Amino acid sequence: MSPFPQSHDYFPIGPLRGVFLLPTQQSGEKRRSSHRDDSEMRWISVCFRNREAWPGFELAAGDLQGQFVVIQHHSDLRVPKMIITIDGPAGSGKSTISRMLASRLGFRFLDTGAMYRAIALAVLQAGNNPNEEAANAAAAAVAELKFDGDSLFLNGRDVSQEIRAPRVSEAASLVAASPAVRDRMVELQRAVGDTGSLVTEGRDQGTVVFPLAECKFFLTASVTARANRRLLDLQERGISQSLEEVRQQIEERDQRDEQRELAPMKPAADAIIVETSLLTIEQVLEQMLEQIRRRKAESGTDT
Ligand code: DC
Repeated sequence: MSPFPQSHDYFPIGPLRGVFLLPTQQSGEKRRSSHRDDSEMRWISVCFRNREAWPGFELAAGDLQGQFVVIQHHSDLRVPKMIITIDGPAGSGKSTISRMLASRLGFRFLDTGAMYRAIALAVLQAGNNPNEEAANAAAAAVAELKFDGDSLFLNGRDVSQEIRAPRVSEAASLVAASPAVRDRMVELQRAVGDTGSLVTEGRDQGTVVFPLAECKFFLTASVTARANRRLLDLQERGISQSLEEVRQQIEERDQRDEQRELAPMKPAADAIIVETSLLTIEQVLEQMLEQIRRRKAESGTDT
């Protein structure tokens, strides 16, 4: 099935560029109760059962009988290019949220942690020590990294699963302190930023890599909440660890990522801090979209 609406699924309504009317029955949308006013438009919250099948679209309004919903493609907002940075510690919800945000906005997504993980894997596979600057620099210099959808290829091999192993997480945090590795990663990340609108997540995206990004977020959560999330994530991948082990690893990595000399993990001065411990993913996303709309409105580029 095409991820984009087919012509028989929707029809444009009048002069509003990029706004489509979607019959609720046909698309399987279900109506929910909450209403709120937003400037001239009446916004109605509708549950998108297959929302993931509509990347780049967001709900704009619903009609009063609940027969239709109006969805709008974010790429039609009059912004030629926008960089959104999302930094924060492991388990803060960054990865899931950044991916969903990119999908809703129709922006490219960049997982910079995966890049450090891939270099760490290369170092480990070469039998080298991730504490050695020369070995890290050599691995970064020759590594060819390529994203293809959700998969990451290292020198032509799909390493998406391998890089999530706990030993790679540990090594990635060591490798990430290497100046040569960081220089190379920053160069690659900026090259992606040059290609168009981007949601990029990591530790230094708002502070170092894209200091002029239009919208910066820093996600945080309590260590307990983060350890619980990470444990679930590992379980889903079939990796068995105790909560205490996960918690300890998270604390060690946080400390290393925060205290390293080069590009330490910290919020940019102009970052919006979002504390996610007690929020659902939907709530976090909604807060972030609201901020993005606000930024667009402030810069006079909103529709
Ligand atoms: O987000 P993650 O857990 O996949 O990141 C793996 C490691 O890479 C983490 O310990 C910190 C490091 N990292 C970094 O230093 N800078 C980034 N922009 C992204 C990740």
